[in-house]
Amino acid sequence: MDEKAIQQIKQRYGIVGNYEGLNRSIDIAIQVAPTELSVLIYGESGVGKEVLPRVIHDNSTRKHNKYFAINCGSLPEGTIDSELFGHKKGSFTGALDDREGYFGVANNGTLFLDEVGELPLATQARLLRVLETGEYIRVGESEVRKTNVRIVAATNVNMQKAIREGKFREDLYYRLNTIPISMPPLRERGRDIELLFRKFAYDISEKYHIEPVRLTDNARALLLKYKWPGNIRQLRNLVEQISVISQEREITADILKSYGVTDDSLGETGLVLHGTNRDLHSTPEAHSYEKERDMLFQLLSSIGKEVKDLKELVHSNMENLHNTQQENYRVFDEEPQPMSAPLSYPHSQVIPSSQPYIMNEQGYAASSRMAYNRNNIQDVDIETIEEAPMSNKELMKKNIIESLRRNNGNRKKTARELDISERTLYRKIKDYGLDI
Ligand SMILES: Nc1ncnc2c1ncn2[C@@H]1O[C@H](COP(=O)(O)OP(=O)(O)O)[C@@H](O)[C@H]1O
Ligand SMILES: [Mg+2]
Repeated sequence: MDEKAIQQIKQRYGIVGNYEGLNRSIDIAIQVAPTELSVLIYGESGVGKEVLPRVIHDNSTRKHNKYFAINCGSLPEGTIDSELFGHKKGSFTGALDDREGYFGVANNGTLFLDEVGELPLATQARLLRVLETGEYIRVGESEVRKTNVRIVAATNVNMQKAIREGKFREDLYYRLNTIPISMPPLRERGRDIELLFRKFAYDISEKYHIEPVRLTDNARALLLKYKWPGNIRQLRNLVEQISVISQEREITADILKSYGVTDDSLGETGLVLHGTNRDLHSTPEAHSYEKERDMLFQLLSSIGKEVKDLKELVHSNMENLHNTQQENYRVFDEEPQPMSAPLSYPHSQVIPSSQPYIMNEQGYAASSRMAYNRNNIQDVDIETIEEAPMSNKELMKKNIIESLRRNNGNRKKTARELDISERTLYRKIKDYGLDI
């Protein structure tokens, strides 16, 4: 292992920690970077997978060419092939222009396919072809195109299980998995937990001009015991919350506990509700919790119904608008998912899909089409609830946790029970740090 090169990478990318497993992963990334091999990065959510593809690209011969990070889990299924492989003008309603697609624009560069386990099977077939032959076909075309793209993929799902369940192609898995790199969970990293705590405490103190928080010995011991289901992302959020909310600068184990850092089984399941110490299984409270849950469930259903009504209202308004303005724009009304703009968007602002690719706030490549999608009607439920007061958010979180439990983690059933789309559920699980 080239210790010096590893330290340099850590400095350049702000990677904190000395854990052997972390060093090993960085070392493999450095070794594999100058080759053309496909790399698959494994690790739970929040362990820091996203930095490695960038390290690989920057240390490869492709470093002067394009790098795109694409989150496969957040691309709408109806448009994913067109986003990745491009489309021909007029190949579907809304295809106002030719679109090159990431495989075209990233020619000679690197594509990071994050959450690759979420790709639909049809897209997996296209991906396998381009990986094996360098050839792809745009949606709506028959002409075969060539591209030379290096793929680095990441996943937090158990790929073997996904293969067994028929959700992921085995041949594609072997093709992507030429070099596996595993990122260790935070709970294994021992002293690094404290180093990361200090880094985040310092960052936030700089940002808000406040004194950094520090840990008592007991608090330190608790952080080491805790299971960190949301890993480093969870630790960072925790330090931010404590730094801003707590009156104290010396953080004790009790303060940590009031923020959901437990040393009991809750930590192991990862189902921690911030700001409460409630053990969902404890008998004295079980009864009242059950009642509360039912009430929350009812409340959620009624919110869901209101959102549905709202969607219908928006739909019918949009239809009226479209009927009167059809001469100016072809609308996205034949797509599997409605792609209409929110009511406040005048049609003259609809952005054609040939706009250049941009990076969104998470660092993922986002086409104008995707930025546009984020405002579509499908998202009304998400936005409405997220903008709502904290208590609603907590309600939603609790409901999701409970419903996931009832359905043994089955997301399809959970989404159906909560009357939200699977995609919305998926996003919420991520947002709330329940993705373990
Ligand atoms: N070793 C580390 N040092 C500093 N920050 C880290 C480290 N690992 C992860 N992070 C931060 O934690 C957050 C989650 O990392 P990310 O790469 O998005 O996780 P993943 O993709 O595995 O879910 C990011 O803000 C990232 O910058
Ligand atoms: Mg990620």
